[in-house]
Amino acid sequence: MKMMKALVKSKAEEGLWMEERPMPQIGPDDVLIKINKTGICGTDVHIWNWDEWSRKTVPVGLITGHEFAGEIVELGRNVDDLIIGQRCSGEGHLIGKHSRQSRSGKFHLDPETKGIGVNVNGAFAEYLALPAFNVVPLPDAIPDEIGAILDPLGNAVHTALSFDLIGEDVLITGAGPIGIMAAAVAKHAGARHVVITDVNQARLDLAAQVTDVTPVNVTTTDLGEVSKSLGLKQGFDVGMEMSGNAAGFDQMVEAMVMGGRVAMLGIPPGKTLVDWSRIVFKALTIKGVYGREIFETWYKMIAMLEDGLDISRVITHRLPVDDFEQGFATMKSGTSGKIVLDWT
Ligand SMILES: NC(=O)c1ccc[n+]([C@@H]2O[C@H](COP(=O)([O-])OP(=O)(O)OC[C@H]3O[C@@H](n4cnc5c(N)ncnc54)[C@H](O)[C@@H]3O)[C@@H](O)[C@H]2O)c1
Ligand SMILES: [Zn+2]
Repeated sequence: MKMMKALVKSKAEEGLWMEERPMPQIGPDDVLIKINKTGICGTDVHIWNWDEWSRKTVPVGLITGHEFAGEIVELGRNVDDLIIGQRCSGEGHLIGKHSRQSRSGKFHLDPETKGIGVNVNGAFAEYLALPAFNVVPLPDAIPDEIGAILDPLGNAVHTALSFDLIGEDVLITGAGPIGIMAAAVAKHAGARHVVITDVNQARLDLAAQVTDVTPVNVTTTDLGEVSKSLGLKQGFDVGMEMSGNAAGFDQMVEAMVMGGRVAMLGIPPGKTLVDWSRIVFKALTIKGVYGREIFETWYKMIAMLEDGLDISRVITHRLPVDDFEQGFATMKSGTSGKIVLDWT
């Protein structure tokens, strides 16, 4: 049996372990992808930490990871629209084909979805078996390290394009990698002012390096004052909640215009206190955002990248995969942007 290196949740305790695992076998509708680069996601850190969510969700023995770029090295016998050697990334949500949502083409709303690196074996390995349906070929203009972060860029694009942005004033709460990429997308898509908040100055400094935003540290600066100084008459037209923090959302509600629209990607750790009466009296629209639209988000983000959207500076660390422990420690420090691991 041919073996490969893989980063595995092999014990029900904190950590991930590099192990030898059998190469995955592909089915007739799958392809085998040789992994070149992978991104570390906040989800992977949850799995590393073995928190309550991951204990309930992740089977022990799972190969982790869902952000990847690589190249196709084997085709299942039914696959006739891809070629060996094709560079690719891919959608890590494996959808079912039975639900009403799937059958009407809204694949991203399928309730039977399983995630690679969360429910089934993932991409932190030398090889990944993936349904050909999930493969997204990479144009030459998109290098592997950007290919490896299309999954979180897709979260940013899905959220940012939820509402019309042209000429709008946008507030993003949370300058994590996804918030920062969403700010770049909002500017690219024609927003007027984009303000991004955080409580972590390092993250705000990074945001300002990546794109043309107004960073606001809410521990020292009043958001209302910033809004006034930019000449906003009532507040922000479009909000993107990307902190997963109840205080962040509360500040967003306060800072929005009457009739404003809010897209929520951030995942609060549990039930949180929300002042619903203010949301009602402001007549706000709130949209929950999960994953990426399959595959509309992928088409849009690749088109924007080919058309000058530059998010490369959000990658702050590039490491050989054998230094994964350092990568996870850096992620946990909260000062990094995206961290990309090299498997070649
Ligand atoms: N819905 C989905 O499909 C989906 C997918 C990926 C990530 N997420 C969620 O999206 C969010 C963003 O992801 P990320 O990887 O960039 O996360 P991250 O944890 O790296 O970033 C969150 C940022 O919010 C900041 N923050 C904390 N309190 C704040 C406050 N009161 N005001 C403003 N900022 C505050 C933190 O300092 C941090 O920099 C997370 O909540 C993540 O769980 C959701
Ligand atoms: Zn991710």
